[in-house]
Amino acid sequence: MNFPDLLAADARLIQTRLDQALAPLADEPVIHAMRYAVQGGKRLRGFLVLESARMLGIAPAQSISAAAAVEALHAYSLIHDDLPAMDNDDLRRGLPTVHRKWDEATAILAGDALQTLAFDLLCDPALGDAQTRITLVQSLSQASGAEGMVLGQALDMAAETIPNLTLPDITRLQAGKTGALICFAAEAGAILAGQDRAPLRAYATALGLAFQIADDILDVTGDATKAGKRLGKDAAAGKATFVSLLGLEAARTRAQDLVHQAEAALSPYSAAQNLIDAARFVVTRES
Ligand code: IPE
Ligand code: IPE
Ligand code: MG
Ligand code: MG
Ligand code: MG
Repeated sequence: MNFPDLLAADARLIQTRLDQALAPLADEPVIHAMRYAVQGGKRLRGFLVLESARMLGIAPAQSISAAAAVEALHAYSLIHDDLPAMDNDDLRRGLPTVHRKWDEATAILAGDALQTLAFDLLCDPALGDAQTRITLVQSLSQASGAEGMVLGQALDMAAETIPNLTLPDITRLQAGKTGALICFAAEAGAILAGQDRAPLRAYATALGLAFQIADDILDVTGDATKAGKRLGKDAAAGKATFVSLLGLEAARTRAQDLVHQAEAALSPYSAAQNLIDAARFVVTRES
């Protein structure tokens, strides 16, 4: 299967698992907001779970709950990222943001509940024995918390007001904001297979950085209709990014170098084509 078809097929599996998890819940606005927020998106993080697992001999039926978990966690981070207190955005995945469609309280609570849903999904016995599930829970909580995504988001908010941020500052910010969840996603395959996580961590570290450089480039050069979100926001907020620090050309070169690093990290594996394709995709994507 070619990469776009595989990405779409994996996205359908993830949507089905999320729908299944949300279907029994009450007919309340906060639940409707959760269902709304898990629609759409590229599903890159869920794809990385399914395909790192598949590469190591684990079928989607065994990994799907972890793929759905990371997408639920990511959807929560996007709802909160769009709030007026953070990026104050009105468009996400081509639709009004959750706090625009409902209200801020509903958006905060839908985000909170998607976060706890993620950990509920990681308790699914289909993922493996208790130790495997505990390792997944701990790994996702570390990736998303005070030393991971939340820290990165805090540093990102501060980047609007701190002058003269350096490349190491932005790299640390990115490692939390975007890198940590992407690392969790790629390492999940190794956790499920009971194998060494180091090669997948090296792959995802490079891929995550390339992904955020591409996000910063898209914010400057992208097409808002294709991206499904407002662009030009970073410069308007006076935010230091890879593009503001390196310039567009050097940012593109850096992203391309990182794709090569990501590919090189996969050399221990013989069935890595889908992950290689994902690395190439993150820097050529338009959304
Ligand atoms: C957007 O993530 C937020 C960042 C971490 C830069 P994605 O570009 O993966 O968003 P979706 O899930 O495809 O909408
Ligand atoms: C969002 O980063 C990162 C997280 C939600 C963790 P951005 O603020 O750069 O993402 P977009 O550009 O709004 O998608
Ligand atoms: Mg943000
Ligand atoms: Mg944002
Ligand atoms: Mg951005």
